[in-house]
Amino acid sequence: MTDSTIAHVRGRRVWDSRGRPTVEVEVTLHSGMSGRAIAPAGASTGSGEALDLRDGGTAFGGLDVTNALSNVNGEIAGALEGRDARDQAAIDASLVALDGTPNRSRLGGNAIVATSMAVLHAAAAASRQPLWRYLAGNRPVRLPLPEIQIFGGGAHAARRVDVQDFMIMCPAAGSFTEALEWTAEVYRAAGALMKDAGKLQGVADEGGYWPAFDCNEDALDTLMRAIADTGLQPGKQVGISLDIAASEFGRDGHYTLALDGRTLGTDQMIDMLGRWLDTYPILSIEDPLAEDDLEGFRHFSQSYGSRCQIIGDDFLVTNADRVKAAASQGTLNAVLIKPNQAGTVTEAHEALQAGKTAGFGTIVSARSGESEDVTIAHLSVGWDAGQLKVGSFSRSERMAKWNEVLRIEEALGPQARFCGWSALPFTDRPR
Ligand code: PGA
Ligand code: ZN
Repeated sequence: MTDSTIAHVRGRRVWDSRGRPTVEVEVTLHSGMSGRAIAPAGASTGSGEALDLRDGGTAFGGLDVTNALSNVNGEIAGALEGRDARDQAAIDASLVALDGTPNRSRLGGNAIVATSMAVLHAAAAASRQPLWRYLAGNRPVRLPLPEIQIFGGGAHAARRVDVQDFMIMCPAAGSFTEALEWTAEVYRAAGALMKDAGKLQGVADEGGYWPAFDCNEDALDTLMRAIADTGLQPGKQVGISLDIAASEFGRDGHYTLALDGRTLGTDQMIDMLGRWLDTYPILSIEDPLAEDDLEGFRHFSQSYGSRCQIIGDDFLVTNADRVKAAASQGTLNAVLIKPNQAGTVTEAHEALQAGKTAGFGTIVSARSGESEDVTIAHLSVGWDAGQLKVGSFSRSERMAKWNEVLRIEEALGPQARFCGWSALPFTDRPR
């Protein structure tokens, strides 16, 4: 028995940022050290994701997690107690085998990912290192380029507009600290513009302003004005990043827009996005087409991949095999990494490594349902992902992650290096 031998695994019900039940797991080692993690939850989920186990029935809209917790406190605890927390890959493989389903539906994706992350935290605690350092070992790390939401939309705002995330990126900032400072100014300016227009109606699920717009372009124009109002240069200093989350409104090559009820074919959808790319300094675009639209992705990537990051979220579901296939098919140039989409820490890391091998941009990402858990902030630095997407610049489940990266930047001191432009996988920068 070593200091890092697992003594207890305990699951408890806590509540997420939407006030819904979720799974927290605490792993205690024989040394008395422990690690803890909370499962997040998505709203716009890809069909290939690990599946959360929810109770159904009437309590809390059927979203309770008592069965998932029983699995943690029963089968999972039984399989992990006595194992060495440092054997992350072997422990994750055991969790996958114990579940036995392709999508984690028996024990629950929520039970498994919270356990996997709690084991990681416990192992880092045993090594007496912060998690990011434990993950990085002696390898150099960089502070991620943040992608920060200004307006929410899509499934996170009752489909008020089609696009799910209107975000900014500050690749010309000199540090992570400065990128947050610029973002704070843009967020404030956008709020002031909404207020002046009589459109300030609170915030959506991830803390971006509620999108009281008449069309998607209205949101883009307001974002441009907000950037200009801060005195920062759109394109050169601050770029736009969109998550279209097109699987939410597209299928079989048909895309139905919520605002005007129009249905676009794949080519029309690509033309619309292309017009936006020609009009606005868009540096990154996520899920521009639906997860079943492989040809659309390929076509879009051929046309715009040299001047824009094209991210697969629902399309790749943090799956290493899908990332490899995307690289050989030329469907996109970046992958979103959500640990709970993959199921375990090890699988998420494999997807990230597959992305790096392909020369893709790699973005560690939160979910729309979050908590005070800051694991992903550490993953983004410790795995040297290059980019981090957490939601907006308000609400503490979001700010907890940004603030954690500030602490890591401070701890790195003179060795702190900010990714900036180098995180983006394309060559033609906006002029
Ligand atoms: P989700 O949204 O967590 O609701 O899936 C986040 C995203 O689509 O990137
Ligand atoms: Zn997405």
